[in-house]
Amino acid sequence: PSSTVITIDGPAASGKSSVARILAQRLGYIYVNTGNMYRAMTWAVLQTGIDPNDQDAVRQAAAGIVVDSPVTEGQTQVSISGRILSAEDLNSDPVNRGVSLVARVPEVRSRLVADQRALADLGPLVMEGRDIGSVVFPESPLKFYIDASEEVRAARRSAQGHTDQVAERDRLDSTRKTSPLVIPEGAVVIDNSHLTLEGAVQAVLDRLPPTE
Ligand code: C5P
Repeated sequence: PSSTVITIDGPAASGKSSVARILAQRLGYIYVNTGNMYRAMTWAVLQTGIDPNDQDAVRQAAAGIVVDSPVTEGQTQVSISGRILSAEDLNSDPVNRGVSLVARVPEVRSRLVADQRALADLGPLVMEGRDIGSVVFPESPLKFYIDASEEVRAARRSAQGHTDQVAERDRLDSTRKTSPLVIPEGAVVIDNSHLTLEGAVQAVLDRLPPTE
């Protein structure tokens, strides 16, 4: 990449977004939540009225949709046709149910991966997702995989008021053919089941070379 990219991957509700956001703030890097790019694509695909289980229909609908990632206040937003999507749009139940079905389509992934790589031209990044260390920036020397136990992740998700089936999303994300969720080669694994948010951020900071 053209700048430093710290990659953070892990399953749903592992706490990786909070860790990535705070880490980016501490370092003055741009925070990129790639899950929101897949969520924005899903939101727009669902607007067309197609069934997200139908991979051909998803492929066709997605081909006409552009997800932009403008940067505001040190982090990327996601927008469709100039409209920035809200957290409510991105985290709605239909999007939660459909996102892993949209994200498994190879043509959707290749386009968003190209956009994600281009973001490194903007400056140093903390980029978070499922395939950032394995596929998007496999050459990065700064890779992390943040995990938490099934129980802790379920509790975190229900505390956030979400009713989606986290386990089903993880199953789809881990078993899809293209870029499944894996621990990237060379990644430092941090289990934050029993860490505070600050403790998890510190665990990442402790593993960075002194120049970061
Ligand atoms: O990170 P978040 O849980 O918001 O991601 C939503 C979904 O987007 C994931 O369940 C996965 O299907 C997809 N995703 C992906 N690759 C990424 C980031 C997210 O497939 N790099």
